[in-house]
Amino acid sequence: MKFYIATDHAGVRYKDAVKEMLTSRNIEVEDLGPFNTDRVDYPDYAKKCAIAVRDDKGSFGILICGTGIGMSIAANKVKGIRAALCHDAYTAEMAKAHNNAQILCFGERVLGLGTVESIIEAFINTKPEDGRHSARVEKIMAIEE
Ligand code: RB5
Repeated sequence: MKFYIATDHAGVRYKDAVKEMLTSRNIEVEDLGPFNTDRVDYPDYAKKCAIAVRDDKGSFGILICGTGIGMSIAANKVKGIRAALCHDAYTAEMAKAHNNAQILCFGERVLGLGTVESIIEAFINTKPEDGRHSARVEKIMAIEE
């Protein structure tokens, strides 16, 4: 399992902690920046991460901004990407099980690190469900055509 991670200035403080959560579980993580707290535009980093995930089949992404909203809207503009804004372990579990999301988005200004860890744990331990859920995901992807 490999994750790409990116943030904006409002999410960069959580980036190292999230990377540690992944590496301590023997999960590979590639940091796409930014590498300081200077103001940046979240669509630039959402695009970078979404393209990396799209081009590396089977990989996942984590995008963090102030709320997670801008990152999720921007990442979902990249064809083939399903980015889910999650607030807790339940939404993270459903994002994988029902929506087969490849990218997890959340807000540093919204969540504590304990909740973030439970979100990551749920996302990595859940598998996409077949049947009606995969059929619905196919319908989502067909909207892109
Ligand atoms: C930056 O101030 C903030 O707008 C951004 O991090 C994010 O919350 C946007 O959705």
